[in-house]
Amino acid sequence: MLQGKKGIVLGVANKRSIAWAIAKKAADAGASVALTYQDERLLEKVKPLADELPAALLLRCDVSQPEQMDQLFRELEQSFGKLDFLVHALAFAKREELEGEYLQTSPEGFEVALRISAYSLTDLARRAAPLMKDGGSIVTLSYLGGERVIPHYNVMGVAKAALESSVRYLASDLGPRNIRVNTISAGPIRTLAAAGISGFSSMLDVVAERSFLKRNVTVEEVGDTAVFLLSDLSRGMTGELLHVDCGYHATGM
Ligand SMILES: NC(=O)c1ccc[n+]([C@@H]2O[C@H](COP(=O)([O-])OP(=O)(O)OC[C@H]3O[C@@H](n4cnc5c(N)ncnc54)[C@H](O)[C@@H]3O)[C@@H](O)[C@H]2O)c1
Repeated sequence: MLQGKKGIVLGVANKRSIAWAIAKKAADAGASVALTYQDERLLEKVKPLADELPAALLLRCDVSQPEQMDQLFRELEQSFGKLDFLVHALAFAKREELEGEYLQTSPEGFEVALRISAYSLTDLARRAAPLMKDGGSIVTLSYLGGERVIPHYNVMGVAKAALESSVRYLASDLGPRNIRVNTISAGPIRTLAAAGISGFSSMLDVVAERSFLKRNVTVEEVGDTAVFLLSDLSRGMTGELLHVDCGYHATGM
């Protein structure tokens, strides 16, 4: 489905990362995939994963560091020459902002969460677009907490709302270049980032009990949806938000 396509996946921290499931599925579908790692601390986890993919590039990128972003896209241009897709599967909020009341959010906590979790998509899209010479597909990861109040998700919910809105504005700006931008809103999955949300286990329990499919979603299911959005099968879709959450978003009671 992705034969001959070249893409970058940002957000692999370890083998549980949603980004890793997407990277593996994309490589299985025939794509050449570049992975990034945030810092040296994560390199030892990400390197063995990158080694599992055929001819994968492994590049450093902390999205809050403009010079690392410049370097990333220089290296991508040199190695790949062009880009067909970009997957943004990263987010960050200070741990203290993910407990208690949203009311208590600090200005710094707000700024960091929005900068890393939402603005980074816009920054990446602007840098990737010139390399998407034959059109392209950009996919980001969101959560229901951007649309509804989920206990303790707090400022990350506000960041996801900004991210989802950014997807629509980016889809409008990039549509004339045949670059599509879409969101996957995934159900809760036990990952490193999820471990920072207080009461995360009860989020899993509620979905398993109340979702239409009566279970939690898997990273593989999110990965398959991402491959669809990255492929030409979804060529008529942009500015869209797809829930991959066993139907939980549509439940009333
Ligand atoms: N796990 C869930 O329940 C769930 C549900 C819906 C959406 N999501 C979203 O999926 C995405 C991936 O998260 P995950 O659950 O796989 O967790 P994860 O911890 O595996 O991935 C989060 C990634 O963000 C990266 N990151 C944080 N700050 C960064 C920075 N400054 N520069 C570069 N990278 C940075 C981390 O290095 C890590 O690789 C996030 O956007 C998350 O909000 C997760």
